[in-house]
Amino acid sequence: MRKILLAGNWKMHGSKAMVSALLEGLLAAPRRETPDMVVFPPFPYLAQAQSLLAGSPIAWGAQTLSPEAQGAHTGEVSASMLLDLGCRYVLVGHSERRTLYGENDADVAARYAAALAAGLEPILCVGETLQEREEERTEAVVERQLEAVLDRCGVEGFERGAVAYEPVWAIGTGRTATPDQAQAVHAFIRGKVAYRNDIIAGQLRILYGGSVNGSNAADLFAREDIDGGLVGGASLKAEDFLAIRDAVT
Ligand code: PGA
Repeated sequence: MRKILLAGNWKMHGSKAMVSALLEGLLAAPRRETPDMVVFPPFPYLAQAQSLLAGSPIAWGAQTLSPEAQGAHTGEVSASMLLDLGCRYVLVGHSERRTLYGENDADVAARYAAALAAGLEPILCVGETLQEREEERTEAVVERQLEAVLDRCGVEGFERGAVAYEPVWAIGTGRTATPDQAQAVHAFIRGKVAYRNDIIAGQLRILYGGSVNGSNAADLFAREDIDGGLVGGASLKAEDFLAIRDAVT
């Protein structure tokens, strides 16, 4: 049985005051039954997240990482630095990294491999643009993004990591994929992994991302192959993120 994972991607939002208020708000609302939860603050706030969340059931992670281990890479942050800050997870290949910062499939696979090698749990983000969906290329695009990592890391690379299916047209737009649309792509992804190893595929958590909120989460996460959510806008206020948690527990 796959446990729901609720992941909050804060993107480039926050301040020290906001991080304290948000994390204290999440910690103040405990529940006996809770999905796994992780927050992804910007790099400068990871130490603050570590000091507030250490020993709590909420994990923290980073929004990206360098594929390099160390050295002359001005502005980059390595996997071992993230581990040093107590990170458990790291996002890899978010569509904003791919489109705004030019990360291609090979770059994303290199980052995924670096995270795995360091002992982090990478969450590989995949998803098609609106044009690609309209041209009925959703499966081809998602397959290409997935296979780049499968080829580089092997199917064993998904023993520890996770996948987030985020249709680009649903991110930050308020336009969520329907549960049927999302389930179809999630089943496709799981099938691709199962083709290589069905035990790993059966255990793999596949999150849905794109305008998830407290009103639509329950219907999405009820579907067979949707194992949680990668949440942007609705993860920036404790009450909104908790509304999603409470809708699914
Ligand atoms: P959103 O962002 O929930 O604001 O659509 C999701 C994401 O980009 O991970």
